[in-house]
Amino acid sequence: MNERIAVVTGAAGGIGSATARCLARAGTAVALVDIEAESVTGLAAEITAAGGRALPVRCDVTDPVQVKAMVRTVAREFGGPHILVNNAGILSDSELHLMSRADWDAVHAVHLRGAFLCARAVYRHMARGRWGRILNLSSVSSLGAAGQANYAAAKAGVEGMTRALAVELGPLGITVNAVAPGFIETPLPQGAGGSEGAGGAWSAAAAETAPVRRAGRPEDVAATLAFLAGDEASYITGQTIHVDGGLPLGRLSLDGCGVEN
Ligand SMILES: NC(=O)c1ccc[n+]([C@@H]2O[C@H](COP(=O)([O-])OP(=O)(O)OC[C@H]3O[C@@H](n4cnc5c(N)ncnc54)[C@H](O)[C@@H]3O)[C@@H](O)[C@H]2O)c1
Repeated sequence: MNERIAVVTGAAGGIGSATARCLARAGTAVALVDIEAESVTGLAAEITAAGGRALPVRCDVTDPVQVKAMVRTVAREFGGPHILVNNAGILSDSELHLMSRADWDAVHAVHLRGAFLCARAVYRHMARGRWGRILNLSSVSSLGAAGQANYAAAKAGVEGMTRALAVELGPLGITVNAVAPGFIETPLPQGAGGSEGAGGAWSAAAAETAPVRRAGRPEDVAATLAFLAGDEASYITGQTIHVDGGLPLGRLSLDGCGVEN
């Protein structure tokens, strides 16, 4: 089988770097896309030293010019791309009365506009070979979370866009799915709730409430993304796969009903 080429955005972060490592171990060449140029350069060196192929590309996914240039660079240096993981993300949490328009716009720009721009820039390359995988990161927060009106709306939008693109791009051989993590231990949720360090409390609460009784690891999400990026997942499209240890279900506690849990 010919080598596949993946673009992973937000590759300097927790889930992005775990996904890039996982794909590279499976023989996929990975373009490591992030605004943090230094971190992706380091990760590229690590993947290359382990025998993989990796290309660091500095790119702000909210900027259409940079996104176009990034995809051109990947196509020129590596070929493809065949796989896109729209993973770049930020939080700007606050209660509604404190949430500024800038908080709203910044979160939407990265999660929604960024995913749209990257999908638009890569799909023709995928359609040419009639094989492609677009994977979008949603979140358990799309169900609704206090202090996250901007993030919940953006992630619900990502799920809607996933279904629309699945319908549109399926006939071209491209599947489009979303993965919705619960609480995953990475730098991102440390800023949840609008304060640095709040993530620690969330992590403990998630470990206590989730049926599997632990917080998630970046590798839990990476393994699911890698499966969806492979040939075995060719009949799955337009779906949101929840990788959350059952966290939302754990909220339906049986305490007081005489059931030991
Ligand atoms: N960690 C969690 O608990 C959790 C839960 C649900 C969903 N998610 C989603 O998973 C994805 C990855 O999250 P993470 O926890 O690994 O976060 P992280 O903060 O560790 O990584 C995010 C990465 O995105 C990059 N980034 C931010 N803005 C960018 C831009 N404009 N252009 C390019 N890169 C940009 C950052 O530099 C960073 O490297 C995000 O979409 C997030 O919303 C995370």
